[in-house]
Amino acid sequence: MKTISLFFAASLLGHAALATRLYAASYAGLVTSLDLSKSNELSTLSQTTECGGSPSWLMLDSPNGVLYCLDEAINAPNGTITTLKTHQDGTLTKLAQLKTPAGPVMSAMYSAPGVLERKFLAVAHYSGSSVTTYSADPVLGLFKHEQTFTYQMAAPGPVAARQDAPHPHGVVVDPTGRFILVPDLGADVVRVFYVNPSTGLLEQIEPLALNPGSGPRHGAFWTPRGSNSTSSDVYFYLVQELSNELSGFRVKYSGNGISFRKIYEGGTYGKESSPAGTKAAEIAISPENNRIIVSNRLDNTFGPKEDSFAVFLCADPSGKEAEKVSFLGLYPAYGSSPRHFSIAPTQTMVAVALESSQSVAVAQWSKRSGAPGTLLAGKKLDGEIPSVVWDL
Ligand SMILES: *[C@@H]1O[C@H](CO)[C@@H](O)[C@H](O)[C@H]1NC(C)=O
Ligand SMILES: *[C@@H]1O[C@H](CO)[C@@H](O)[C@H](O)[C@H]1NC(C)=O
Repeated sequence: MKTISLFFAASLLGHAALATRLYAASYAGLVTSLDLSKSNELSTLSQTTECGGSPSWLMLDSPNGVLYCLDEAINAPNGTITTLKTHQDGTLTKLAQLKTPAGPVMSAMYSAPGVLERKFLAVAHYSGSSVTTYSADPVLGLFKHEQTFTYQMAAPGPVAARQDAPHPHGVVVDPTGRFILVPDLGADVVRVFYVNPSTGLLEQIEPLALNPGSGPRHGAFWTPRGSNSTSSDVYFYLVQELSNELSGFRVKYSGNGISFRKIYEGGTYGKESSPAGTKAAEIAISPENNRIIVSNRLDNTFGPKEDSFAVFLCADPSGKEAEKVSFLGLYPAYGSSPRHFSIAPTQTMVAVALESSQSVAVAQWSKRSGAPGTLLAGKKLDGEIPSVVWDL
């Protein structure tokens, strides 16, 4: 009997492993479901135009099978948020859609202990200079608008072409789930919000100020391995697009407040200066929890149209000296303009959204080097690709 049940368990696992799926957003107005086969071939399962003209960001609620898609609606007065139901065969069907302020580019989900039946999402609007929030029925994928924060600046920032106005670009939830951070590329601040635990509404608190002209874009929190406390040993890393820098902060909590002490600032090319025209984009902590990965766009480090990832160490091997961040080197990004990437938590692979190559690449994640490794698959799609997510 034992042999038989083991056999069934193995075949069930084998079956589950067949469904390795990705969703990619494209400025051609498409959201594409892709299948990665066991022999590492990427094929298109289905495409939808339901997310509007310029899908910029995808956020998957995997347990509920709901994909949230932002339409940046480039050059239009309003963007949209669309929820799409995911299906076994890869098709995506529309559940709901709402108009938003212009230019939504990133979202994150959070919850409030006093509103257990609903989830919340915060959205950064680049061209609309605003942050919006929504509450959602996560099972049905239905959602409603809750808040809009709109920002102004008295004068342009030092990089006038990009800092003509506030440009919220990212949304990050802290490890306690009590604070939301929004890097604002135009205003050189990270906007900070407290999540009201009984309503889920955001309350604005003191922002984190950055160097003028640095252009904060996206961020990631890190808690050192072995630390079980989510509030006593927390770090925040920020990628700055205009200065091509990584900044690190030690996070301190006090009551309903959060504060930041800078522990690191360094270029995404180490001691080298950044090549002209490059723009750092995405940031993530490695699955081994000891590296910070940043994508560099349009640097041609590995040849024409072959950009790079910058890899930083965020802990010494013993994990004790958590404040010792250091630049380790550059690794291939498998194409041009890696705007976004997703590291698959369970399968040690990284998917890269290559905006200018108009393609998706999937590479092995190298545990040994803590960096992207061998290229496994690539797929050319229609239009520029701003975002790609796994559905595992
Ligand atoms: C659509 O854009 C207009 C013009 O910017 C703005 O006033 C309006 O609030 C937007 N609509 C929504 C639903 O955000
Ligand atoms: C962290 O918590 C887990 C589960 O509660 C426990 O098994 C583990 O030993 C803890 N680790 C440390 C370093 O305290």
